[in-house]
Formats: sequence, C-alpha cells, structure tokens
Amino acid sequence: MSDDSEQWILNLYRTSEIAGSLFFGRLARSMKPGPIQYDMTKHFSDEAMHAWYWTSCLQEIGAETMSIKEAYQEQYLAAVGLPANVMEVLALTQVFEKRVIHQYQLHSHNPTVHPAVQRTLVMIMKDEKWHIKWIHDALKSLEPEYGADLIHATFTRYWEADQTVYGKTISEHAERVQYLVERAGGRVA
Ligand SMILES: [Fe+2]
Ligand SMILES: [Fe+2]
Repeated sequence: MSDDSEQWILNLYRTSEIAGSLFFGRLARSMKPGPIQYDMTKHFSDEAMHAWYWTSCLQEIGAETMSIKEAYQEQYLAAVGLPANVMEVLALTQVFEKRVIHQYQLHSHNPTVHPAVQRTLVMIMKDEKWHIKWIHDALKSLEPEYGADLIHATFTRYWEADQTVYGKTISEHAERVQYLVERAGGRVA
C-alpha cells in the first residue's frame, strides 16, 4: 500500500460508487419503461460492479475498507436539490459522470499508482465513458421536448454547483487530495 491518503481515496471511490448505484437504481425503478430506463438499468448495475471492484481491489492490495460518512454525490444533491424531471436527472448525471472520470484519469496518471489500482481504474473508466455517451445521446433525444438552450442552461447550472461542492470537498480533505495533485502534477478541480 502506497500510503494512507491513497487508502482513504480508494475508500471514498468505493463509497461514491455505492451511492451512485443506489441513486441511479432508485431512478431506474421510478422511470417509465423505455430506452432511457433500459440504459439507466445498465448504468446502475455498472456502478454496483464498480463498488465491488474497489472492495476487491482494497483487499488485493492489503488495505482496509473504511466507513466514509458522506459521499460527494450526497453533498452535491443536498446542494442542488432533487431534479424535477428526466431532463434534469440526465443533466445532473452527466455532471456526476464527468467529475468521476476526471478524478479517475487524474489518479491513473499518478506514476506511483499500485498496479491493481491502475487495473481497476482502467476497467472502470471504460464503463464511465459509456455512461457519458449514453446520457449525451439521451439528452439529445430530449431536445425536441425541452429545447437545446434549456438543456444547456440546466447542465451549466449543475456544472457550477459541482465546481463549488467539489472545491469544498478538496479544501476539507486538502492533505489527502494532495496525494493526487503532487504526483500527477496537475489540477484537481
Ligand atoms: Fe462508476
Ligand atoms: Fe458512472
């Protein structure tokens, strides 16, 4: 195990994937049958698998699973409130997904990353790319109903909230997140 910061970050990923799976699972259950529900079902099952990949990865590298109180998703939802319609759900999901893949990319560029962690990151990022793609396509399909301008404005509103919440998370956990910044030589947000 490289250090405590990495262990904490992997546990944060695990917790966030569980939160994501539960969130998207509830959405899939409440949606009317159709192509969006179909893809959302695959999506929440992917997130559940990601939680399992991190759990198994933690064991493989000899690290402990720890309780992390609040996942980013929960803080984010508390900040923006629940989405009011399927378009808002998808715009919010797109912001989640871009945040997650950015974080995983940053981590995978860290030259000291454990091979098992790198393998897990690569495996998960493949799924996350599909998540971004299907949501993009679904939002496009909703343009006749909601209008491209409103969809863009909604995405921007959620994106700005993400920047604020993520910035707050980073400042609260500055020392731990520094692990990624220093070694990847890049920005976190
Ligand atoms: Fe995921
Ligand atoms: Fe995802």
